[in-house]
Amino acid sequence: MNALELLREAEAALWAAKTPAEVEALRVKYLGAKGVLTAMLKELGKLPAAERPAAGKDLNEAKGRIAAMVAQAGARLASADLDRRMKNETCDVTLSGRAVPIGRLHPLTQVMREIVDIFARMGFDVAEGPEIEFEDYNFEKLNIPKHHPARDMQATFFINDDVVLRTHTSPVQIRTMLEKKPPVKIVAPGKVYRCDSDISHTPMFHQVEGLLVDRGVSFSDLKGTLMAFVHAFYGPRTKTRFRPSYFPFTEPSAEVDIECVTCRGAGCRSCKGSGWTEILGSGMVHPQVLKNVGYDPEMYTGFAFGMGVERIARLRYGIDDLRRFFENDVRFLRQF
Ligand code: DAH
Repeated sequence: MNALELLREAEAALWAAKTPAEVEALRVKYLGAKGVLTAMLKELGKLPAAERPAAGKDLNEAKGRIAAMVAQAGARLASADLDRRMKNETCDVTLSGRAVPIGRLHPLTQVMREIVDIFARMGFDVAEGPEIEFEDYNFEKLNIPKHHPARDMQATFFINDDVVLRTHTSPVQIRTMLEKKPPVKIVAPGKVYRCDSDISHTPMFHQVEGLLVDRGVSFSDLKGTLMAFVHAFYGPRTKTRFRPSYFPFTEPSAEVDIECVTCRGAGCRSCKGSGWTEILGSGMVHPQVLKNVGYDPEMYTGFAFGMGVERIARLRYGIDDLRRFFENDVRFLRQF
């Protein structure tokens, strides 16, 4: 084989190469230390002296050409590879995107936040307390002594003799007043527990508590604050009434009713014909409660209120069955 034949063979082989590895193998075959060209150069010595220079020159030229062809083949494959990747890895930016379903806040969370926001705008701070509470704070310090019939109003989960699952958010009143001196102006949202379960009761539900204690706080402050809340939450034309009631920790006590949202006051089944629906309990903080936390009832007065979030949400959205809130059916939850 002479230099020209070698060149032809190498050229054909390099054109046929399909991968960079094949090109490399051919480079080794022709140009490597143990390759064809090296062997042929070694053979030069066997030629007659007169032919040696021309043959040597041909082989060296062939070596240069093959090296150039190897480089060319490498470049050709690299650009083919790039073309292939460009074709396969394109992304069609005109395709429509995939919808990412987003969640939302539970209706009870929304309503609870809305209630808290209304009071926050009136200058109330937000306070929280534990759901596992001392019996002393849940009852005793709120002027509900042991064996008092008022305890039967709230079927209690006991952890032990001294510790309960709080039956209302009112113990946050006690915790707040034990911690700081007046003025106190807080709302306390949270979960409460009662041993109760039927169409209108769940063992866990939510309340928002309110407490304001300062010098010279009167019942008209309570009334004005709660009217402002009702008008902000249910609309400025909502009719309201304060109805005398009883709670051991307030004196006097009142429940607040709004015009029945179902019948607008005409009287229907959901308001038992009265035309009114109760939305919260309230009153002037009982002097004994103030004494229990070390406040001087001669110096300070206050009002308090507490409302059930489920009830308020149910009235707002006209939801008949309380259990809807806890079934976590997304078709229900998605509506809020
Ligand atoms: N704690 C009462 C309950 O769960 C609600 C309540 C009534 C809270 C009157 C108050 C209040 O702060 O003044 O039924």
